[in-house]
Amino acid sequence: MEKVEAIVEALPFIKEFHGSCMVIKIGGHAMVSEDVLEKTIRDILLLYFVGIKPVVIHGGGPEITEKMERLGIKPKFVDGLRVTDKETMEIVEMVLDGKINSKIVTTFIKNGGKAVGLSGKDGLLVVAKKKVKKKKEGDREIIIDLGYVGETEYVNPEILQILIEKGFIPVVSPVAADLEGNCYNLNADLVAGNIAAALKAKKLIMLTDVPGILSDLSDKASLITRIRADELEQMLKEGKLRGGMVPKVEAVLTALRGGVERAHIIDGSREHSILLELFTRKGIGTMVEP
Ligand SMILES: Nc1ncnc2c1ncn2[C@@H]1O[C@H](COP(=O)(O)OP(=O)(O)OP(=O)(O)O)[C@@H](O)[C@H]1O
Ligand SMILES: [Mg+2]
Repeated sequence: MEKVEAIVEALPFIKEFHGSCMVIKIGGHAMVSEDVLEKTIRDILLLYFVGIKPVVIHGGGPEITEKMERLGIKPKFVDGLRVTDKETMEIVEMVLDGKINSKIVTTFIKNGGKAVGLSGKDGLLVVAKKKVKKKKEGDREIIIDLGYVGETEYVNPEILQILIEKGFIPVVSPVAADLEGNCYNLNADLVAGNIAAALKAKKLIMLTDVPGILSDLSDKASLITRIRADELEQMLKEGKLRGGMVPKVEAVLTALRGGVERAHIIDGSREHSILLELFTRKGIGTMVEP
């Protein structure tokens, strides 16, 4: 009976979400082990089979660092951004496209899903430009060269729309090129936000390693379950969000301003976090409203 009641509780949500597109960003922490990744993929497949059209974006920072260290190259960061020279860019592409993207696609296959692996380059999905990083030094502004670190110039969602309409699940890596063919390493959170906005997705879902947005980072019980975009922007300005949470929140704000209905930041290492957030009345993470 309990099992049936759980399905019945989900019915209004299934009805509301049927036929809509959701962009899901998988962070390094939702991929720490094959087991965690496989559970996440199965939940995404459940969404797919109740009529939701998922688009997956993945990161892979920790694995890039690990690979670089094994090759004897010391990673360098400026304000959380990886300084990416030509050699590092080769490793970034190898790890993100060659390894992680392919791993996610095969995990879909193994569990009965039709996934297609893409980078931002494919079908001109994401057109990138070099990121210009400025820093104040006294009263002067200096430009720091981060190498092949890029940002989104614009998104052409056409290739995703074609795939989604034909029943495929696109899996996108945050590697993209400019129109001269130079390749760049982009932040996966920001790419997810831009893609969600371009698709006018119903939801943007960010899987991370904390329960959601915390009002006090040292206290896991300080989870904010519901917040408006303007309140979140205020938190960002007040410096209450640090490190990896900053691009995540920027991506959420971009998505909501671009017409996405809701954004969710949830703990990807917790079992069935996506299903708990979407199909139960209470949810488990942070829901952001426009
Ligand atoms: N107010 C806040 N609430 C919650 N987390 C915060 C806050 N401020 C900063 N953070 C940090 O943001 C981190 C999440 O971002 P992080 O970039 O580390 O993970 P990810 O994006 O899920 O994974 P990856 O970058 O590997 O793809 C948390 O582990 C936490 O330390
Ligand atoms: Mg991150």
